Amino acid sequence: MEWWQTAVFYQIYPRSFLDTDGDGVGDINGIRSKLDYLVELGVDALWISPIFPSPMRDFGYDVADYCGVDPTFGTLDDLDALVSEVHARGMKIILDWVPNHTSSDHPWFTEASASRGSTKRDWYVWRSPTESGSLPNNWIRAWSDQPAWTWDETTEQYYLHCFLPSQPDLNWANIEVRAAMHDTLRFWLDRGIDGFRMDVIHLVGKELEVDDDPEMAALSHVPLNDVAITHEYLREIRTVMNEYDDRVSVGEVYLFDPKAVATYYGKDDELHLSFNFASLVTPWRAEAWRDLVAESEEMQLTVTAWWPTWVLSNHDNARVASRLGGDPARVRAAMILLLSLRGTPFLYAGEELGLLDAEIPTERIVDPGGRDGCRAPIPWSNRPSWGWPTDPWLPFVDDVATVNAEAQMADPDSMLNFTKELLQMRRRHAAWRIGQLTKLQVVGHVLSFERATQDDRVGVAVNFGKSQARLPWQQTQIRESFGSISPEGELPPGGAAWVELT
Ligand code: GLC
Repeated sequence: MEWWQTAVFYQIYPRSFLDTDGDGVGDINGIRSKLDYLVELGVDALWISPIFPSPMRDFGYDVADYCGVDPTFGTLDDLDALVSEVHARGMKIILDWVPNHTSSDHPWFTEASASRGSTKRDWYVWRSPTESGSLPNNWIRAWSDQPAWTWDETTEQYYLHCFLPSQPDLNWANIEVRAAMHDTLRFWLDRGIDGFRMDVIHLVGKELEVDDDPEMAALSHVPLNDVAITHEYLREIRTVMNEYDDRVSVGEVYLFDPKAVATYYGKDDELHLSFNFASLVTPWRAEAWRDLVAESEEMQLTVTAWWPTWVLSNHDNARVASRLGGDPARVRAAMILLLSLRGTPFLYAGEELGLLDAEIPTERIVDPGGRDGCRAPIPWSNRPSWGWPTDPWLPFVDDVATVNAEAQMADPDSMLNFTKELLQMRRRHAAWRIGQLTKLQVVGHVLSFERATQDDRVGVAVNFGKSQARLPWQQTQIRESFGSISPEGELPPGGAAWVELT
């Protein structure tokens, strides 16, 4: 097994993790100061959302220099120190590489947009209007009903941007672009970074001549882009990754069909891992989850490189606790599920605290994609300003006085301590990490399955229903259990349990 198959990843959105220099925005030194917390929590690898120089119109996903650190977050020295401190604690660290687009402030774009004859002109995607004077194609940019094309007055052509106009798409068909981007990977791999989360990686190859289906015409092009040439680019990227030992690529393949996602593993020559975002939109119903897990399991029959990933929250979507209506039993059940399915789990900072999305007053909304709620700052201590030196860039969650990490550390029954225990058990039982997944079934509203290695057998049962329900095992089969089992040996409404089986 590779380390990234058995690891639990923890996503840090650096702006919201912890500030140390008093500008209200989290920084690298904030992450450094919480490494012991993360070790104690029991996660194995950190994914840090972008820390590169950026005008922050998309809060770092608009990169102006792929080989540096934005002063808001600190310095390259701070990052090097973080990497060695993470490694000293036996953890891994991956960065967030944004290959589809740069910031319009990137010197490459400045040069490309200076004139049609610029040597970097072809590094981006330029088109003249069609003969009838219309846009090059009907693609719509993210978070709007607006075209993915913006007219450049100086050079009188449109340029493509699948996100904001300030995020021009790179032209991956140009071999110089690919070589330059490969070098940005090597820059960080040489510094000891363990790999990358690759932002909207399914988007790098494009078929510009093909319009989006008019039925989908009002939708962003992003989740619709799934073309063959991308796989060639991914094989080249994998070759770069293979120049180094033990590194990982985790692609954000923003497609909602798991079968399409699986193709991005190639023949073990493309991505090592890919997010499977179907889990973000699967309703909290036993059958829906059974079908999702079954589909993921079946994939290994046809895609040999398939190793599933599981994710319930991230910086782009409502937190799982909010999606589950804040019901504490369900929030714990979701954590049990996340950490027990076969594959690599990704936790989003604050999920271990059961954080909800924050309510953002209109005047404090800053994100062009409306995602501020799930990016609320992590509350560390139990008094204002909750471990932060000043008021942070976004408001805290409403129940900050009870959900902060300090309060939860002191409470043996807290979500934080629950998560820690789960992570400890995951470390103790090989079956949770590498066991085959068997006996997937739904009885009533209870979803259950087992995980087994040769000498370790464990099981999970989640009650999705509103009334108490039976476990699928006899008491005599259960050696040890953890979770919400009632004195009669049943699962309460919304409850879930982990059992060690004889
Ligand atoms: C990805 C990121 C998101 C960002 C977008 C554009 O979906 O997760 O935060 O806005 O790409 O880079």
